[in-house]
Amino acid sequence: MKILVTGGTGYIGSHTVVELLSKGHECVIVDNLYNSSEKVLDRIKEITGIRPLFYRTDIRDKEALREIFKENGFEAVIHFAGLKAVGESVVKPLEYYENNISGSLNLYELMKEYKVNKLVFSSSATVYGDSFKSPLKEEYGRGRTTNPYGTTKAMNEMIIEDYGKADKDLSAVILRYFNPVGAHKSGLIGERPNGIPNNLMPYISDVVVGKLDHLNVFGNDYDTKDGTGVRDYIHVVDLAKAHVAAIEYADGHKGVEIINVGTGTGYSVLDIIKAYEKACGREIPYVITDRRPGDIATCFADPKKAEELLGFKTEMDIEDMCRDAYNFICKNPNGIE
Ligand code: NAD
Ligand code: WQD
Repeated sequence: MKILVTGGTGYIGSHTVVELLSKGHECVIVDNLYNSSEKVLDRIKEITGIRPLFYRTDIRDKEALREIFKENGFEAVIHFAGLKAVGESVVKPLEYYENNISGSLNLYELMKEYKVNKLVFSSSATVYGDSFKSPLKEEYGRGRTTNPYGTTKAMNEMIIEDYGKADKDLSAVILRYFNPVGAHKSGLIGERPNGIPNNLMPYISDVVVGKLDHLNVFGNDYDTKDGTGVRDYIHVVDLAKAHVAAIEYADGHKGVEIINVGTGTGYSVLDIIKAYEKACGREIPYVITDRRPGDIATCFADPKKAEELLGFKTEMDIEDMCRDAYNFICKNPNGIE
């Protein structure tokens, strides 16, 4: 299939492009490089032998995006482009709504205009909010979101559902990711956020390479096995493969499906520290601090629907995730420059 990948130079997008190319799909990337580098394209070429066609374009620029639709004749869209920092979204809510909603609306309108009926959208477990108990099932619906970023994901889900109700040709798969971590085994692509990381795994990586002094563990008084927060970490290459399965599923079905992408297993912060220590062969200094506002104790997926509908099952475990995150940060301590 000829697939438009928005946000395709980003963390999850780049890994997905690699998996799509390896399955013989053609990818065209649109990204404004707000949170990624054009060098990712060279890295994709190093891994796959193919340098995908790239447009440095903002999806909010509808006319520019229309030209890209006109020139290409896409069969499908995988939509990753968006802002994703939870804390920042609380401070800059309008920027988040503008980017994640206006940009997405442009894209969906052009899909309709150019009769591109297959869509995979990056949603998040964050749409369950703090309303339900894990394992989280798709049928629970959407909970109370706790920040504007999460609300943009819930709103996109609703927009796609309404679009699908009105247009019976639409075939959309909304993937709710749990906690993506790790990197491609080559160490050529991966994630190193700008500035001080917010998320656990990139933060630990920075501690391990000496950029940060120690990890702050946000609370050890949760109702979990060791008191620290429990999450469903998924290897980014497994997640990328879920997109290949989802777009191929969309090729043969109509309607809108919402599907969790997680392993179904929860690990605590202390579990992750131990696994990373094993991967890097040294001790990771940490201190227990107060809870981070907005955090919940436990969040993990019920992954059955992905297996039933997409035939998708994760293959990599926590050791693979820590090994590959460590390999990437050692090779790219300052990110992909
Ligand atoms: P990322 O920031 O690495 O990738 C997003 C890409 O989109 C970046 O390359 C950025 O430059 C681009 N972009 C942003 N706004 C754009 C715009 N207006 N026009 C064109 N390009 C634009 O993030 P990621 O971790 O790869 O996440 C991909 C998607 O998955 C996002 O929608 C994110 O919200 C979602 N998601 C991520 C996680 C996670 O933990 N990483 C979890 C759940 C959902
Ligand atoms: C994991 C655990 C923290 C950092 C976020 C978004 C979510 C989704 C994935 C996009 C928690 C603890 C963390 C640190 C710590 N993104 N922690 N010290 O919060 O589960 O999910 O990323 O859709 O929307 O909210 O991920 O990696 O920040 O935290 O102790 O320095 O690690 O308290 O228990 P989270 P995380």
